Amino acid sequence: MVQSVIEALLRSKIGLDVNSIGSGAIASAIYQRMADCGISEMSSYWGYLQDSPQEWEALIENVIIPETWFFREPESFALLKSYVLSEWLPKKPQGVLRVLSVPCATGEEPYSIAIALLEAGLTSTQFHIDAVDISKQCLLKAQTAIYDKHSFRGHNFTAQANYFKLIDSKYYLQSSIKNLVRFINGNLADTNFSVYQQKYDIVFCRNLLIYFDSKTREQTIRILENLLAKEGLLFVASAEATLLMKTQLVAVRKSSAIAYQKLSHHQDLITTKKSSELNINNKVEIASPQKISVNNSNINLLALAKTAANQGHLEDAIQLCKDYLKQNQINAEAYVLLGEVQQAMGQNEQAGESFRKAIYLQPNHEAGLTHLALLKEQQGDKTSADLLWQRIYRLQF
Ligand SMILES: C[S@@+](CC[C@H](N)C(=O)[O-])C[C@H]1O[C@@H](n2cnc3c(N)ncnc32)[C@H](O)[C@@H]1O
Repeated sequence: MVQSVIEALLRSKIGLDVNSIGSGAIASAIYQRMADCGISEMSSYWGYLQDSPQEWEALIENVIIPETWFFREPESFALLKSYVLSEWLPKKPQGVLRVLSVPCATGEEPYSIAIALLEAGLTSTQFHIDAVDISKQCLLKAQTAIYDKHSFRGHNFTAQANYFKLIDSKYYLQSSIKNLVRFINGNLADTNFSVYQQKYDIVFCRNLLIYFDSKTREQTIRILENLLAKEGLLFVASAEATLLMKTQLVAVRKSSAIAYQKLSHHQDLITTKKSSELNINNKVEIASPQKISVNNSNINLLALAKTAANQGHLEDAIQLCKDYLKQNQINAEAYVLLGEVQQAMGQNEQAGESFRKAIYLQPNHEAGLTHLALLKEQQGDKTSADLLWQRIYRLQF
């Protein structure tokens, strides 16, 4: 009983949806804190917690999931580079690119952004990165910028030697990179969350929305939209893409990478360019449902399905996916999209079936595996979810 009161407070203070990590994980965080404080009864701990802001902070440190690594979902960084070079830089050659990474956890994400921008050819004076997290312990580690091999579990980052000094199995980030990121303590679930008045050209908000309850998630998406510059890009994790359906954001895709832009920006582009598809470097596809004509091309059918999904036309999106799949039965990506839309419509059984088909076609399809794992968790099938998470985890090595 006392635990559910604490859970309710965690929800209202930091937006945590208890189901996302499970009541068992919250219980062990509470018991750990009780042991650290020398308190044996949960009701006494609750009394103590109410009077101690420091204890709240300590409890929050115990419930957060600070899992992160360098160049996690590397496609996002490829899309970032491509966007900056082909869209942002030509328009603002003298400008300073403003980037926000929230949550930044122990710093791997904002430092990866800094490295990606330098590798794209920007100088350190051409960008500014703010990195925010609720956890002071994470921020401390981020500022120290000393990592071990677990921070490099992504298979695509092979250039550690260029940016780190390896001493006694620890990787020390060069100070020239360290100095490019400003770390800030902040709570994104706070309705007053705002970092600075100026908008950001790039916002990374990956692997946090999945832990939020639906109210906090909606509120957070509005905050992020507000923080995003008109032509800016918002990155979420691939497993979070469905959460942005039915918003005023439009998907921008490049191979498996996905980011979002404001719909208002697209409406301007569509009117001025009178184009059915806009491309960054001829590779990034920004789809607009009103303008893409269905010319029986399979590719357009899938693009149209994605756009319909992103704009909340879910039944149309399902039909378009099915039409596409009739002619293209072996496309795992189409099955994942179909599953995402079915799930958004509450058709969980069908969604599970679609994700399974995607995984059958491509056993290592990370988005397919992640969606199925989240669905299994939502259905209370922890055993299947855990097996899937283990599979996803093994993919990182
Ligand atoms: C899984 S990590 C994600 C890190 C990184 N964005 C990534 O994708 O690798 C989640 C982080 O969210 C932070 N967090 C949890 N609730 C938060 C909140 N309400 N506001 C800001 N950060 C929060 C946690 O402290 C943790 O460091």
